[in-house]
Amino acid sequence: MFTAAEWLKLDGKVAIVTGAGHGIGSAIAGMLAGAGAHVYATDRDHETVASAPMGKNLSHAALDVADSNAVDTFFQAVVSERKRVDILVNNAGVYRGLGGPVVEMSDAAWRALMAVNLDGVFYCSRAACRAMVTCGNGGRIINIASTQAFTPGVGVTYDSSKAAVVQMTRTLALEMARHGINVNAIAPGATWVYDGPPPAVSPEPPAPITGEPLADTVANRISRIPKGRWASPDEVARVVLFLASGMSDYVTGVCLPVDGGWLLL
Ligand SMILES: NC(=O)c1ccc[n+]([C@@H]2O[C@H](COP(=O)([O-])OP(=O)(O)OC[C@H]3O[C@@H](n4cnc5c(N)ncnc54)[C@H](O)[C@@H]3O)[C@@H](O)[C@H]2O)c1
Repeated sequence: MFTAAEWLKLDGKVAIVTGAGHGIGSAIAGMLAGAGAHVYATDRDHETVASAPMGKNLSHAALDVADSNAVDTFFQAVVSERKRVDILVNNAGVYRGLGGPVVEMSDAAWRALMAVNLDGVFYCSRAACRAMVTCGNGGRIINIASTQAFTPGVGVTYDSSKAAVVQMTRTLALEMARHGINVNAIAPGATWVYDGPPPAVSPEPPAPITGEPLADTVANRISRIPKGRWASPDEVARVVLFLASGMSDYVTGVCLPVDGGWLLL
């Protein structure tokens, strides 16, 4: 019988985290590596991911999740190097400045966001499923969605992309269960990825969302978060570890809010 600490161990596992150069992704890469996995911390921007402080057991790599060929090549390279892929965390996502009022939105703006937030999740998940099925060890796919999948506010592109990620999670969970692959999502609420500790909520629109078409709606919700403060990236990363570890062997197809009660409003 394992102890609680043993269930959380990831020794011998190989994990890939996308968008790991900053914010939540960087915290997730550090958390999984700390639990013993060998982590490929990837980001579109290689310099950022190579300089992010994440600790041991890490390889850094440039990977643009919107580039389907690059994704396939990267996963093949990991399998050839490590002979397995156990965990994929689809974290890379964009939101700042890409909302825009729908009446002014260009095709290019819509595509730019969907290419990362939706296509990227699909490309990486497909590559991971292929690798995991071939390796025969089962696996875990964890998608970083958002409370915006359930409550509109950041804009039509972002909110739609995250709602689609939640449904992709459910469909892939159903399809991959027979291969021992669990597919789950996390819906973070307001998570402070800027300098300093997570601030208490306030009635003022926070800088990251000022200027977005529905900034007042989001600001209003943030000012009423039941737990009274933003999350830290580490608080999201701890729930990723739960979903990546033996603690959650029988959990698949769920989207777990990590939102301080945001969705209760
Ligand atoms: N911060 C929040 O309040 C919040 C809330 C809910 C959900 N999320 C989601 O969490 C995830 C991480 O958000 P964050 O706040 O840490 O963002 P962030 O901007 O701090 O970091 C995102 C990282 O993704 C990378 N990235 C962007 N496009 C990429 C691409 N095409 N390929 C690979 N990497 C790419 C960036 O270089 C950056 O390092 C996103 O999916 C976001 O939508 C964030």
